[in-house]
Amino acid sequence: MADQREAALQYARKNKEKFLNAFKEILTIPSVSTDPAHSADIRHAAEWLAAQLRGLGMQKVQVFPTTKHPIVYGEWLGAAGAPVVLIYGHYDVQPADPLNLWKTGPFDPVVRGEEIYARGASDMKGQDLVMLKAVESLVKTGGLPVNVKWLFEGEEEIGSPNLESFIAEHKDLLACDFAMNPDSGMIGKDYPTLTYALRGLAYFELRVFGPAKDLHSGIYGGAVHNPAIALAELIAGMHDTKGRITLPGFYDRVQKLNKEERDELARLPIDDKHFLEVTGAPALYGEAGFTVNERTGARPTLDVNGLLSGFTGEGSKTVIPAWAMAKISMRLVPDQDPKEVHQQLIRYLEEHATKDIRWELTAMAGGSASISDRNNIGVQAMEKALETVWGMRPYFRREGGSIPVVRDMQNLLGIESVISGFGLPDDNVHAPNEKMHLPTWYRGIEAVIHFFLNLKPQS
Ligand code: BES
Ligand code: MN
Repeated sequence: MADQREAALQYARKNKEKFLNAFKEILTIPSVSTDPAHSADIRHAAEWLAAQLRGLGMQKVQVFPTTKHPIVYGEWLGAAGAPVVLIYGHYDVQPADPLNLWKTGPFDPVVRGEEIYARGASDMKGQDLVMLKAVESLVKTGGLPVNVKWLFEGEEEIGSPNLESFIAEHKDLLACDFAMNPDSGMIGKDYPTLTYALRGLAYFELRVFGPAKDLHSGIYGGAVHNPAIALAELIAGMHDTKGRITLPGFYDRVQKLNKEERDELARLPIDDKHFLEVTGAPALYGEAGFTVNERTGARPTLDVNGLLSGFTGEGSKTVIPAWAMAKISMRLVPDQDPKEVHQQLIRYLEEHATKDIRWELTAMAGGSASISDRNNIGVQAMEKALETVWGMRPYFRREGGSIPVVRDMQNLLGIESVISGFGLPDDNVHAPNEKMHLPTWYRGIEAVIHFFLNLKPQS
């Protein structure tokens, strides 16, 4: 059907309003995966997606319970001889706090100018809807040109504790030619982007204990090591003066960047100025000897994600706190192993913690980094689709964020992923006033329509 392309694009253009309403509907569901108070909302979001899949004529639609949040599956395998594409998505979101910094409610989606604001608008309900609405446009205009399977999880933002085992136990159900993973973004609205590398993650909570109880800082100041200071000292020692991480063995497995890749990263249309603008920081900081694109995409980092100790309320209180806590995480690159990094952190603490305090370390979410094959049929189909819609060749970039399922699918299913979503750097993901740029969202739907049609076998 030579003119399905035009018909499907027309369908998408005619139904913009309807598409937007569906988008708003899922954005009103507060599916915060980390908070047990939202488990009914999580189930609601899963059922909402299952209903969408049924509405699209998908078969075997099922909401699989896990020990935490359900996984939604559906498939349509009616395109004999065409590839099977496994579409990945997550329907959970990060917590919305701090609530007072939102201009409008995080689960009360509002369009202001060209943007729609709500938690999850960009990460990643907007991307889920791009896939659903592109498929709808094809289903309603002659049918899908390829076979599809859908896999939506509700635990991505807490490190996908049940996904790896689900994939391992459902290898036949999930068998496919490649995965389409839109849980990623673009360099800028005018720069179509394909992601080919993702960083991994190792996340920890570190607690430092000092005196058995809070102490008067006048009576006891000078007698004990303040746990807040001891923790700060430990953290300060985790980087050297060149911005390198000091955990023993931390860089042993880090793959070196070759000249070709460095040259390619240098050609990306984002530079120091871009990072200064989008971060609002007074100056940039990072490992000496690397550009900001290298530091964020191809080098490992260590960050403090949160700190807690002592008196933090209004006014003053002269106290030596009994304990201090930090959330510490590392972004990893191939071939670092989150379990090894855990051991390296333990070794660092054993070597550097002083005897006047006690520490406890808990490992939390984690996952491996990945590098994806850039030459498979899926990437080629998406490259062409992006070029058609944006009128320029897409950029290939390494992403600093983590999508551990990409590596899991390589290991367990033996498949590669096409990683291409339509979020923008200023979308405020994981932050107040998260948003999605609607013109880019609509272009995304058109691009994915092209993507599926580009995969259709030529007969
Ligand atoms: N969509 C993000 C990952 C991402 C961020 C991709 C930015 C591209 C650009 C994803 O939802 C996410 O935030 N993942 C967590 C993973 C973690 C909880 C295991 C992350 O990167 O912090
Ligand atoms: Mn995401």
